[in-house]
Amino acid sequence: MTTVTLPAHVLADPEHILVREVDKTYPGASARALDDIDLVIRRGEFVSLIGPSGCGKSTLLRALAGLEPIDTGSITIYGATPREACSQKAVGLVPQTPALLPWLTVRQNVELPGKVNRAASKRRAHRQGMGASSVGRTDPDELLDLVGLAEKRDAYPGELSGGMQQRVAIARAFGLEPDVLLMDEPFSALDEFTREAMRLHLLSLWQRMRTTVVFVTHSVREAVTLSDRIVVMSARPGRIHELIDVDLPRPRDREVLAGPGLHAVEDRVRDSLQRAWDSGAVPSDLVPA
Ligand SMILES: Nc1ncnc2c1ncn2[C@@H]1O[C@H](COP(=O)(O)OP(=O)(O)O)[C@@H](O)[C@H]1O
Ligand SMILES: [Mg+2]
Repeated sequence: MTTVTLPAHVLADPEHILVREVDKTYPGASARALDDIDLVIRRGEFVSLIGPSGCGKSTLLRALAGLEPIDTGSITIYGATPREACSQKAVGLVPQTPALLPWLTVRQNVELPGKVNRAASKRRAHRQGMGASSVGRTDPDELLDLVGLAEKRDAYPGELSGGMQQRVAIARAFGLEPDVLLMDEPFSALDEFTREAMRLHLLSLWQRMRTTVVFVTHSVREAVTLSDRIVVMSARPGRIHELIDVDLPRPRDREVLAGPGLHAVEDRVRDSLQRAWDSGAVPSDLVPA
């Protein structure tokens, strides 16, 4: 990993996540996992990453979480390095597979971050100053209720289905009250009905908490439903192909989501995905709706 000295004006940016000219190649790989990635994310923005398997979505997310070293370029999160931001518990990651502590109950898993995270209350005060409402929102029981698992609070993770475990992981990530929530295909293990309910929960929580969300998905519908902006990526090397603004009104209630605007943006995203590959074929691992 090359050590990069960041210019003072970059380190001082308190309102943006800055990803600048980031390259990353895994040892022995024939193509870059990340190639010249440039991305600026505003505080409070909801951004989705979409693209075929292997285009670097998880690598980018892990780099934002300070878990993946980059070869060149720089990443700053509101003026801090990813590692600093993570050590201050300002960044929460929901990984592709839920990493729950098996010896703790569901409720104990969800309440753990709140117990260890004094920094959260400080940030909460800051966000309240910005007008975000926070009343009771990170109470573990309320979070479990929101993900539909209030009745499972005393169960152990091993007693739950994969989808339920993932919902616990999502509740736990919200319990951390992070400034930035990184979610790697968090709903992929859920059935379509639960998935749709979780999208609505996520939207309402995001709206209340003013958390910045970077969300990886394979679903065009999911990306459009949730995001302010969609980052369309292409593979080998992992590049940003296009940034698409989702100019649908908020809140994204059922009326908005049933309107023609949704389909227009979905078409734009599909076109972009198609153009990202010279072959013109949408990769088979992308969910069509
Ligand atoms: N730990 C690793 N070691 C070697 N190669 C990796 C590793 N993780 C990912 N890769 C490779 O890097 C590229 C990007 O992977 P990844 O970020 O997981 O993509 P995505 O999440 O978009 O599917 C792929 O070619 C993948 O095979
Ligand atoms: Mg991935």
